[in-house]
Amino acid sequence: MLTTRSLFDEIYRNDEAYQLFCSIAAGGEDQGGWENERITALTQDPVLAPKVARHGADERKHGRIFTQLLHKRGLEKVDVPPDADYCMLLEQQGIGLAHDRLKSDVPLADREIITYLAHSRVTEQRASEQMRQLVKAYSDNPEIGRAMRMISADEDNHLAYCHEELLRLVAQGHGPYIRHTLEHTAKGEIRTHRDVGLAVMASMGRILGWPRRQRLLLAAGLYALYVYDAAFGWRRMVKLRMPERRNALGTPAPPHAEHDI
Ligand SMILES: [Fe+2]
Ligand SMILES: [Fe+2]
Repeated sequence: MLTTRSLFDEIYRNDEAYQLFCSIAAGGEDQGGWENERITALTQDPVLAPKVARHGADERKHGRIFTQLLHKRGLEKVDVPPDADYCMLLEQQGIGLAHDRLKSDVPLADREIITYLAHSRVTEQRASEQMRQLVKAYSDNPEIGRAMRMISADEDNHLAYCHEELLRLVAQGHGPYIRHTLEHTAKGEIRTHRDVGLAVMASMGRILGWPRRQRLLLAAGLYALYVYDAAFGWRRMVKLRMPERRNALGTPAPPHAEHDI
């Protein structure tokens, strides 16, 4: 029977599929790391900047972990196909801060900080959900189970941080703009998640030689998820709730924590 676990197990057992999976993951993490590094440089708020720096350091660490997993198997990173490049596709749709803006030296205005935090609130929700799925799927796999648990815990912290920082800005009177930005971001993300999911599954289907029936079934599943998210699920991505764990990114990243995996 086709289950999430069997799907990820099949990807793990095939070098080319695993290479694509880890390369896409590493690419997304590195991109997130770069964005946060630039935002750190452009953030004048002395309380927020170190947290953004921690966020960036964690994403860089995740990028190194996925690259390390490839190297353990004697594989190198491959280019991420453009239709599977989640970060770039979001940016092209005007979700989050434009890369040209991030390359400038002009400090970010309050509304741009909100754009960054809303983008992170939505994409970290996705990252947190996906990592929980991977932790479950690879729970019996000693080679990558530990790495997935470490990244998953970090993504939960990133999400907690976004909730807390956005609520702080709501308390300062930015509520209406934050709500508007979160809704715009969530709707764009849900479309992008669908498109990237379909592109990745099409590539995996080719590599793993899935029969047409299986490919259609997976595409239908992804589409059904999109329809649900577009109608109802988006609400979970825009809600703000004070997290149990406060100040989740309040300390600098420990150096080379990935060496423990
Ligand atoms: Fe990450
Ligand atoms: Fe993250």
